[in-house]
Amino acid sequence: MSLEIAELFRRLTHGVYVIGVAGPEKPNAFTAAWVMQVSFKPLMVAISINPGHSSYRLLKESGCFSVNVLAHDQFDLALHYGQPSSVDKLAGRAWHPSEHGVPMIDSAIAQFECTFEDECTAGDHRVVVGRVVSGKLLRPDAVPMIYRDTGDVDGAAMFFPDRFDQQP
Ligand SMILES: Cc1cc2nc3c(=O)[nH]c(=O)nc-3n(C[C@H](O)[C@H](O)[C@H](O)COP(=O)(O)O)c2cc1C
Repeated sequence: MSLEIAELFRRLTHGVYVIGVAGPEKPNAFTAAWVMQVSFKPLMVAISINPGHSSYRLLKESGCFSVNVLAHDQFDLALHYGQPSSVDKLAGRAWHPSEHGVPMIDSAIAQFECTFEDECTAGDHRVVVGRVVSGKLLRPDAVPMIYRDTGDVDGAAMFFPDRFDQQP
């Protein structure tokens, strides 16, 4: 593990989001930082997801996902949705289903609803591209959370190699 390389990668600026998904049996949501706009025409965003997450299977089943933007003071939500789905993360939380049935988090500052468009493998993750079919700005004055400010809450530092030439 290299803290130096982890610190280097923290200079790639990301926000913090809750991605909503829904399979036939149950909806779910997980925290993600690797999210970006990738097209204007049509409007598209990409997320990078570990295919081992239960949310990946649900996303593929539903063919749809939501992107919910967290505010800088919603660290508790980033932690909550970063838990594995053995916990029912949506139980008792304020959310509603989108037109396509994926969870939209009511306390988010902005929301996007996306339909599955494409995906490709990126090392140990899958990059999923979604077409943005709807969206809402809920709190225009709120300041978005910055991933770098969450410290190592996701335990990412341990995944960085000591040196660049030590990668598979
Ligand atoms: C701040 C933060 C950022 C994260 N970013 C991502 C990400 O971009 N992609 C990803 O696959 N997992 C990411 N995770 C990890 C998942 O949220 C976590 O593994 C979660 O348990 C997966 O949920 P699931 O098991 O319900 O699918 C992040 C976690 C945190 C706390």
